[in-house]
Amino acid sequence: MCGIVGLVGETAAAPRLIEGLRRLEYRGYDSTGVATIFDKQIAICRAAGKLINLEGLIEKSPIYGNIGIGHTRWATHGVPSSINAHPHATESVAVVHNGIIENFSSLKSMLESEGHKFCSDTDSEVIPKLIHHLLEQGHEPIEAVAAALKKLKGAFALGIIFAGYENLLIGARRGSPLAVGSNEKESFLASDAFAMAPFTRTVSYLEEGDCAVLRPGITEIFDGKNRTVNRISHESEHDEEMANKSGYQHFMEKEIHEQPRVIRDTLNSYYNSSGGKVFLPNNSEDLFDFDQLYITACGTSFYAGLTARYWMESIARIPVIVDIASEFRYRGSPLNKNGTALFISQSGETADTLAALNFAKNHGQKIISVVNVAESTMARESDLVLPTRAGIEIGVASTKAFTTQLVALACFSIGLAMRRGSISEKDGARLANLLEQLPVLTSDLLKNINRFTQIADELSEVKTVLYLGRGSSYPIALEGALKLKEISYIHAEGYAAGEMKHGPIALIEEGTPVIFLAPSSPLFDKTASNIQEAAARGARVILLSDQKGINELDGLIYKSIEMPEADEFIAPILYTIPIQLLAYYTAVCKGTDVDQPRNLAKSVTVE
Ligand code: G6P
Repeated sequence: MCGIVGLVGETAAAPRLIEGLRRLEYRGYDSTGVATIFDKQIAICRAAGKLINLEGLIEKSPIYGNIGIGHTRWATHGVPSSINAHPHATESVAVVHNGIIENFSSLKSMLESEGHKFCSDTDSEVIPKLIHHLLEQGHEPIEAVAAALKKLKGAFALGIIFAGYENLLIGARRGSPLAVGSNEKESFLASDAFAMAPFTRTVSYLEEGDCAVLRPGITEIFDGKNRTVNRISHESEHDEEMANKSGYQHFMEKEIHEQPRVIRDTLNSYYNSSGGKVFLPNNSEDLFDFDQLYITACGTSFYAGLTARYWMESIARIPVIVDIASEFRYRGSPLNKNGTALFISQSGETADTLAALNFAKNHGQKIISVVNVAESTMARESDLVLPTRAGIEIGVASTKAFTTQLVALACFSIGLAMRRGSISEKDGARLANLLEQLPVLTSDLLKNINRFTQIADELSEVKTVLYLGRGSSYPIALEGALKLKEISYIHAEGYAAGEMKHGPIALIEEGTPVIFLAPSSPLFDKTASNIQEAAARGARVILLSDQKGINELDGLIYKSIEMPEADEFIAPILYTIPIQLLAYYTAVCKGTDVDQPRNLAKSVTVE
């Protein structure tokens, strides 16, 4: 978690650090801070809360210098306050840190016994204190950092500057991502290439254990054995349009409306419309010979995995085990020899998913990942990447990343099914053709917004909402409840409709909103019985179904959202749009911070 940025150049650092931090705020927004070197000394400004607070402080008391580091925090150790905000510094060194130093207690005791005083409750403060201690012992800055890194346990991406050194910025990475880049006169580091995009498009990603020494226009990278290494440089694709809301009120709204396009873009990576056929990357044949598949992910990506299980089991006839990443690797699961494990992640940096991926790799599994950020660690660690083409997602609550994950996974399921002969080529083409309808169908759904805002007005007044669905609508019910919780702070539960009677039914009282996702399918009648049971107990039933479904249940339902008639194969993707819109407009109605909901961060790079 947290975002770090650093630069060394020939012009004022602070405004550009702020610009970089604005692009990293999605990684946390509990506090922000910057440090520069000016007149040989460290100048620091830190503020609790969002970047805007820091900007206010800097406007009143500008800080000067052409070298600097910046940080936006998602609190782990210590409350969100200006004291706990980064950079942490001594009079000789300032540090920004993303990650967790696991042995900070023992290092702190050692440093305290040497007379060093600590001011914050963070784990990170041990880093500048340790480097300072080593500088006092006579080490030069680069040596002091190298010696300090050897003593740190845990995960980190670091940016480090030194009093008296206006041309030296050091970056280091273990566990947390870090990109570096230079233009003619300046060099930069950041947690994400997006933060550097206004200054340079050519970036390299540090690998595990790498350290980078940045001077104006020059970046040198060393591996864990202190050997100079070249890391491939990439042209980052980020453009200015991505950083704008393009006339929408929130990034989340913009990203919801981008779905028809990014679904099409993702589909184009797997589907040849002229041939009418889904294709799998053909250089990976041996990866597809598995009898069982583990799918692992976190948050919304986990729900994409749960949805994919329905496709893989029903059409590709492969048993699938789906697990939450933070549980998977501690469960002691026996993994099939030479098996394959699939990981799903928008960012490709989520610490739990990455740890699970490494666990699977170390246990002989081949690794497939569905990832949105092509240059991410997960993408680099995988034997095969199934890309999603969602583009950068800034709203903390995931929307377009989820639907594009579903599209990639649906294509993967079709491809596997055809390869294994569990469906014919003709059936494969029929399913692919259904996916091809999604850009138009989702675009139509986004046209008539009033019907969502009216229901959202009512939802914004309640304390609890239930989301229920059967079959592949069940994970979408879970996602609906998660979206509502995340951005409107209303308690919501997603459940399998058939399971309602085993517990959640006790939550229903007169007027409780219960949202049913019930596309026409062989399971419709079963869900209809659950709707009867909820209505009989006073629930306000809000039904998402096609016209036929709505007509059948007329009289029982309080409100409905009419969906197009859709084959059950694509229904989960289609039914995601209304649950996103309901959550979004409920949050707008409540006036919550839609793009940066409290306590959350988009990319969770700590376990
Ligand atoms: C955080 C975000 C969620 C996201 C989850 C997994 O919790 O707030 O929106 O689904 O991380 O992220 P990933 O990048 O691995 O998909």
